[in-house]
Amino acid sequence: RPDGRYEARYGQFPGARPRRLRVNPAMRRMVAETRLHPAELILPAFVREGLTEPAPLAAMPGVVQHTRDTLRRAAAEAVEAGVGGIMLFGVPEESKKDAVGTPGTDPDGILQVALRDVRAEVGDDLVVMSDLCLDEHTDHGHCGVLDAAGRVDNDATLERYAEMARAQADAGAHVVGPSGMMDGQVRVIREALDGAGHQDVSILAYTAKYASAFYGPFREAVGSSLQGDRKTYQQDPANARESLRELALDLAEGADMVMVKPALPYLDILARIAAEVDVPVAAYQISGEYAMVEAAAANGWIERDRAIMETLTSIRRAGAGLILTYWATEVARRLGREG
Ligand code: PBG
Repeated sequence: RPDGRYEARYGQFPGARPRRLRVNPAMRRMVAETRLHPAELILPAFVREGLTEPAPLAAMPGVVQHTRDTLRRAAAEAVEAGVGGIMLFGVPEESKKDAVGTPGTDPDGILQVALRDVRAEVGDDLVVMSDLCLDEHTDHGHCGVLDAAGRVDNDATLERYAEMARAQADAGAHVVGPSGMMDGQVRVIREALDGAGHQDVSILAYTAKYASAFYGPFREAVGSSLQGDRKTYQQDPANARESLRELALDLAEGADMVMVKPALPYLDILARIAAEVDVPVAAYQISGEYAMVEAAAANGWIERDRAIMETLTSIRRAGAGLILTYWATEVARRLGREG
């Protein structure tokens, strides 16, 4: 330890001047505690059955529902930019949705078709992930099947998730991402995968997933039929300790990686979870977070690129090793240029 005289002289102003380490870009770059790298970015992507042209999303300028072709191209571009992974969401034709979400387990369902397309395009050069949830595939829009009273039936839903896991792994998913917040989902999915010879397929568990208003634009992205909300299965934004309980359960059930979602309004949860675990921690910068920045930037109210980098840096700083973001390819390219 430095002796007292040293501390007296340099441990406080005017000897101590934190601004010295902010004097120029080179200095700031050198002392930065947090860096972003393309490999830790994951691109969420939507593919819609029967499209002939990509369909732009009004509430997410710059994001589209892909055709099978443009999805393949987007995956190839992600590889080129050095992005780490892609998370696929399938949007079936309206007429194929039903009460149990049949397209979600049909080998010819759009998500399974897209998984095969993307694997054929990228092989093992990109980690290919799939959203494991029923909401894109059900006519009622809930993440599970309903009981006679119209409530989401946890245990009946688990059986569907087990089938989905097998279908997605058969179609080539490296990672499945259960996002439905059913109790016991990770365990049932692990058992289903192992039972089908898919021991090498990983589970990225949506561990702390909050019932958030910021999913709004996503509902357009997947043509959701949901009436009402998901408050009986997703977490209450008021609760933090509950996330640690969800975390303990997911790890005990065999989660390989865990996720917090949304990201920016839940950085405290992210920091707490990151301090607890010895597995990779992801955060999902969701549709509404994207929309807020794009909308404010379009109005000239904030600087778009700076705001994007600041949000991602903050999520990284709070403890996320992996970030799902709709800006993944753009930001990976920018990081590549800046070195
Ligand atoms: C569920 C799912 C949702 C999102 C990802 N997986 C929607 C929800 O839970 O309501 C939201 C992603 C986003 O808003 O960007 N399949």
